[in-house]
Amino acid sequence: MENRSLVSLVDYTKEKLVYLLQMAAEFERQPNRHLLDGKIVATLFFEPSTRTRLSFETAANRLGAKVIGFSDPKVTSSTKGETLKDTIMMVSNYADIIVMRHYLEGAARYASEIAPVPILNAGDGANQHPSQTMLDLYSIYKTQGTLENLDIYLVGDLKYGRTVHSLLTAMRHFNPTFHFIAPDELAMPEVWKSYCRDNNIRYVEHKEFDEDVIAGADILYMTRVQRERFTDLMEYERVKDRYLLKLPMLAKAKPNMRILHPLPRVNEIDYAIDETPYAYFFQQAKNGLYAREALICDALGITLDEIKA
Ligand code: CP
Repeated sequence: MENRSLVSLVDYTKEKLVYLLQMAAEFERQPNRHLLDGKIVATLFFEPSTRTRLSFETAANRLGAKVIGFSDPKVTSSTKGETLKDTIMMVSNYADIIVMRHYLEGAARYASEIAPVPILNAGDGANQHPSQTMLDLYSIYKTQGTLENLDIYLVGDLKYGRTVHSLLTAMRHFNPTFHFIAPDELAMPEVWKSYCRDNNIRYVEHKEFDEDVIAGADILYMTRVQRERFTDLMEYERVKDRYLLKLPMLAKAKPNMRILHPLPRVNEIDYAIDETPYAYFFQQAKNGLYAREALICDALGITLDEIKA
């Protein structure tokens, strides 16, 4: 049987990504559709979340499904020693699809290999966050009118920030130039730079983060320093406020430039920027609903034609 899980966008073709974006656009036109009546969606969050869990659950509710799950593993039998395998097998007895966030890199891949129902990866450690990338792609397309030939600046925690890793994998189809701006301690890992080289993705590394650098950006993708991934909190304290985007730094920004951030923000974007036309991060989060409606439907075998019908 075909495995319809979403583990990584490495597995997806350009045609598949474009198809999912078309689905998302259809859901933006009309988010409420009775496509999942009688279905159960399980959301298993072994790590904290606001947007990802709530937008997946909203997506399920707007499509007529019912939602079960947990937002805190401390209330589950994993605290008694139940393994991830057994948890997944048990929940597969109850639900038609499982959305899972887990602190271990590779947990989603593992779950997808043992589960009899589709798994949607809602973030696995510092590895990947493919559903975030679907809403990022949708946001980039909506703001730029294309996904092709863009200059995308990734700023902040490029080591632990799983959203930027997933974005690289999806953008490989669209001839981007990436710009990496991070402290040495949080630089893009060599494995991902190697991925770029293997997939003909151009990238430039910058040390400066100022108005002259930002002047070249179509998309300025800010990220939070991922405190929860540090083993040495002194190191976190040293790097946490290194890159703060302030209003004067946008003086030379291109008119089409938009600022994205997967959120939550901590101290990466000055609040004065929220009122500028460059700020797009709240709309970006809203796009998550439509992108995740598309992902749930696709994983359950519902086609674009069926959605339009
Ligand atoms: N962007 C994102 O993953 O946010 P949450 O951690 O709130 O789900």
